[in-house]
Amino acid sequence: MESSLCALLLLGTLALQETWAGPRSMRHFNTAITRPGVRQPRFLTVTYVDDLQIASFDTDRQCLRSGPQAAWMERMVQEDPWFWERETEILRGAAQMFRVALQNISVYFHQSAGGVHTLQRMLGCEVSPELTFQHGFYQFAYDGRDYISLDLETLTWRAAVPQAVNTKRIWEADRSIAEGWKNYLEEECVTWLKKHLEMGKDTLMRTDPPSATVTRHTAPSGEVTLRCRAQDFYPKEISVTWLRDGEEQPQDTEFIETRPAGDGTFQKWAAVDVTSGQEDKYTCRVQHEGLSEPLTLQWEPQSSPTWLIVGGIAAALLLLLAVIAGVVMWNRNRNSA
Ligand SMILES: *[C@@H]1O[C@H](CO)[C@@H](O)[C@H](O)[C@H]1NC(C)=O
Repeated sequence: MESSLCALLLLGTLALQETWAGPRSMRHFNTAITRPGVRQPRFLTVTYVDDLQIASFDTDRQCLRSGPQAAWMERMVQEDPWFWERETEILRGAAQMFRVALQNISVYFHQSAGGVHTLQRMLGCEVSPELTFQHGFYQFAYDGRDYISLDLETLTWRAAVPQAVNTKRIWEADRSIAEGWKNYLEEECVTWLKKHLEMGKDTLMRTDPPSATVTRHTAPSGEVTLRCRAQDFYPKEISVTWLRDGEEQPQDTEFIETRPAGDGTFQKWAAVDVTSGQEDKYTCRVQHEGLSEPLTLQWEPQSSPTWLIVGGIAAALLLLLAVIAGVVMWNRNRNSA
């Protein structure tokens, strides 16, 4: 009995490793925003492992919070009671660094004090399916545009705008700045990512396949669109396409960017313009790594929800009657035996 249970568990882990073929990543997104009349800019951080938010920090709350779906963070803190304290200190330090950087940069852009500006940083690492370092990134944006980034190969800084040459000069004068980040991204970031993948594997290694529905909409002008909606899936990567007679219709299709549902799963839809009466020529195809084969769906006019409910209740009643009849017959047979 015990050995068969072990075999089952082993199969379970093997299957888990096979489904996640893509790279795994950890990313920190920092944002500092100046506020008129307030000396300290607001500083926000969100940290992701793959497509799941594991932590967030906001200077207005002065606290670091774990992501709602990252239950393993609690265990991580129990194992290492100073973890939260240390991370919070690091983030307070980063907030200071961003405050100074915002001052420098507004001077480089000849901007007067008191305006509203944002400085963003994205840093993180990506590992192969074998969990070895693959890519690292460390880049800044000012007021929504690329500002400067680190080239990990050459350990040089790339200024995306002329004003950033000032920062490039300061940072290249001290090579230990680039070396420090390279070391963080290649070593420490990978160590943390592996730790999260290990402790949070039930959440992070899962694949939730999408469910999908097709709805039909008529605009006031009489134009007809079919909308194919995929939801409840994880990870985020998905393909939703409309085919007409087996051919993809990208020109006539409107896609929305894949969006988080807020519960750790994602949603996407694609809508195609059709000529009324031609609906049956269109098929929606949904591909996701949680599906062993693509979902294909069509608009089905007759499958209105009330019909399904009435039909479902009728079927359930029939089943119940059959079960009662079966029990009565069985009792009768037993009593007569
Ligand atoms: C801002 O200036 C300080 C002092 O010169 C320097 O240490 C820091 O790296 C600068 N930051 C940026 C983003 O230019």
